[in-house]
Amino acid sequence: MTALKPILNHIDNIPSNAGKFKPEKSSVYYIHHRLRFQTSSPKSLLWWIVFLSLILMLFFLSPTSTTAPLRRFRTTTSPSSALSKWKTEIELSAKPRSRRGHTVLVTGAVGFVGAHASVALKRRGDGVVGLDNFNRYYDVALKNSRKSELLDRAGVFVVKGDINDDVLLRELFGLVHFTHVLHLAAQAGVRYAMVNPNSYIKSNIDGFVNLLEVVKSTIAPPAIVWASSSSVYGLNSKVPFSEKDRTDQPASLYAATKKAGEAIAHAYNHIHGLSITGLRFFTVYGPWGRPDMAYFFFTKDILNRKQISIFEGANHGTVARDFTYIDDVVKGCLSAIDSAKKSVGRNGRKKKGEAQFRIINLGNTSPVSVHKLVMTLEKLLKVKAKKKVVLMPRNGDVPLTHADISLARMELGYKPTVDLEMGLKKFVQWYLEYYDARKKSSW
Ligand SMILES: NC(=O)c1ccc[n+]([C@@H]2O[C@H](COP(=O)([O-])OP(=O)(O)OC[C@H]3O[C@@H](n4cnc5c(N)ncnc54)[C@H](O)[C@@H]3O)[C@@H](O)[C@H]2O)c1
Repeated sequence: MTALKPILNHIDNIPSNAGKFKPEKSSVYYIHHRLRFQTSSPKSLLWWIVFLSLILMLFFLSPTSTTAPLRRFRTTTSPSSALSKWKTEIELSAKPRSRRGHTVLVTGAVGFVGAHASVALKRRGDGVVGLDNFNRYYDVALKNSRKSELLDRAGVFVVKGDINDDVLLRELFGLVHFTHVLHLAAQAGVRYAMVNPNSYIKSNIDGFVNLLEVVKSTIAPPAIVWASSSSVYGLNSKVPFSEKDRTDQPASLYAATKKAGEAIAHAYNHIHGLSITGLRFFTVYGPWGRPDMAYFFFTKDILNRKQISIFEGANHGTVARDFTYIDDVVKGCLSAIDSAKKSVGRNGRKKKGEAQFRIINLGNTSPVSVHKLVMTLEKLLKVKAKKKVVLMPRNGDVPLTHADISLARMELGYKPTVDLEMGLKKFVQWYLEYYDARKKSSW
């Protein structure tokens, strides 16, 4: 029945001729009456059948749900038993091992950082529920592998759904009392904004607001820790980048949505008393990483003897990144969760005092040039790269990132320990094993 709702609403919104339908009648009457009216000739009846079949086909073939949770259960068992199994799995996954443990909703859970963070939380005894729409921005098989090989094994249940689906979010928050939300779901990557700008607005702005709306109206809103980005520093040239620096010169739409996210977070903190910590990640890399990032596709291309483009800035300026190893970033996320104060809102209203609001860099604070990155990969892969040096195009990238991590050190006790050489070694080892196993399994 819930499945039919959007279709019926749509039908109900078809403008009618004045005076044909009486407004005081119930909507059921309208639908029935309108269908009867529209289907009065055999030709229009045929059109209606074709139209409804098309809608139903689209509905049943759609990969993710955007309406009610019941749509998730196209199983051989009855929908109600599938629903109760789904609820039981969520409740089990959400249960911390001890009474002092947290209960965390991790959005973007099958993503690179989300999978690692979920497993780390679960392993130390927190309750974790993952949420992810498994979108196709990059290889979905990699997301499925993170789920089966990391999350399933650790006992983290992942709900397949979108942060824009408020029915689903309300259902989850009704089912579980989350103490924290680690919000990592986003449209990542700076260059893809040239291809699909709306995906950034949909996930990074609409989706974030939708999540905050649901969180703020719970009885005891959880504290939120979310991923902003070093890209908010945009075209700044003063280094290292400090949280006190200006962030009003974004070089990409991605950066602009993260900057907007910080402003939106502040408004919800101020009005609704939500405790919010924004973490500005600096080029996170490591095993199970993201195929759209340079270290990942350079590895693939070097192994395939394909030419790679190395960017340089104006006047042959060096392009460098503050590469930060995944385990260091995960430690920073966990410390941010542990040090987050409670939200002071309740049912959408601020109750007492000011809620905590923090923005903190999570970087490595030792930028490495792209040339050095390639040299390290060549050494680890034992293959000489075919390089072409090109001027960095103006499509989102910035010449340099470099984090000042003194605030992270003070607030979170954050201390990155993995340098690029050691981190890339672990990445390459994983890459070779993972893709070797995938090649074998496809034979
Ligand atoms: N990896 C980095 O270097 C880096 C740097 C700065 C900031 N960040 C931020 O950190 C977070 C995690 O990044 P990542 O590298 O793990 O990226 P990722 O793309 O691997 O993970 C994001 C996950 O979110 C999911 N997702 C996207 N939109 C969604 C939606 N509307 N509803 C539900 N799920 C959705 C995707 O399917 C994906 O699995 C992101 O917010 C990203 O912007 C990452």
